[in-house]
Amino acid sequence: MYLLIITLSKVVYYNFSMATIPFAIHKYAFFRKDFVDFADAKISVMTHAFLYGTAVFEGIRAYYNKDSNKIYALFVREHIERLVQSCKIMRINPCFTVDEMCERVLELIKKNAPKTDAYIRPSWFKDALRIGPSLIGGENEDSFVITSLDLGDYLDTSKGISVQVSSWRRLSDNAIPARAKVNGSYVNTGLAKSQAQLAGYDDAIFLTEEGHVAEGSAMNLFLVKNNKLVTSPVTDNILEGITRKFVIDLAINELGLAVETRNIDRTELYVSDEAFFCGTGAQVAAIGSIDNYVLSDGNAGPVTKKLQELYTNICRGNVSKYHHILSEVSY
Ligand SMILES: Cc1ncc(COP(=O)(O)O)c(C=O)c1O
Repeated sequence: MYLLIITLSKVVYYNFSMATIPFAIHKYAFFRKDFVDFADAKISVMTHAFLYGTAVFEGIRAYYNKDSNKIYALFVREHIERLVQSCKIMRINPCFTVDEMCERVLELIKKNAPKTDAYIRPSWFKDALRIGPSLIGGENEDSFVITSLDLGDYLDTSKGISVQVSSWRRLSDNAIPARAKVNGSYVNTGLAKSQAQLAGYDDAIFLTEEGHVAEGSAMNLFLVKNNKLVTSPVTDNILEGITRKFVIDLAINELGLAVETRNIDRTELYVSDEAFFCGTGAQVAAIGSIDNYVLSDGNAGPVTKKLQELYTNICRGNVSKYHHILSEVSY
């Protein structure tokens, strides 16, 4: 059930359903060539991206520090570079450079001046009114949009969450490539996540068609076994996560742990010492059980806890060594 409240500054959706996440949309968006009121960022129901899911996107988090009244956007350039890679796969031709897109993301944050943690979603989409799913369109048919919102936890990071190994399989590189963040491919995520929620779990883990562990519904996965981290390779139909790469760096360089990147069997999940998800949205989220096999007493284990604390501190701008991954915006 939703209650829609329109205030002067924001459109706020209060959400009372346990299956979805409360958020508040910011006043301004970037739409095609300009900053506009969010309410004016509209497309036709005949738009190719709406008809066929032909859009690509990124989710960028920005962490608000109330002591300094600054917000820190995380890995902006890395997200925009991945967006450009997704565009290439989808034959979308961006008319802005990486620098221009990064600037617009930061400008939008400044214009909206959020007073809490925010989520910024840049996207390129096939903007023509066109029938037929071909990705080959006309001149200048691709448009850029950025929306932003207040957003807290996507997954509960205060406890170990319960997870189901989905009966849905992760889409494969030869169907819809997981290394591109294609809007339409999130139907795969939706099928697995809602199946898990309706069965009473918090989230889902995908296997590949070959039966290897791929990733969570919209986040990458790590196991901890004998003080070593294990994660699936990028050839097992995962999104090449920016957080995953960073977690690997932190585990090796800050915690002195070994990290193995290799195929993972389903039953390795059940006998691991710890497991956690990671992603821009998910952050570092401990897994307390998988298919009702309990891990680390249902809580964040010691390695997960250390990574969680380190990651949170870095994102909030409290670790100067890692300031280079943050773009500071003040207002
Ligand atoms: C399918 C999928 N896997 C993994 C991730 C995590 O990627 P990142 O750490 O780059 O946000 C995301 C989130 O963007 C995702 O949608």
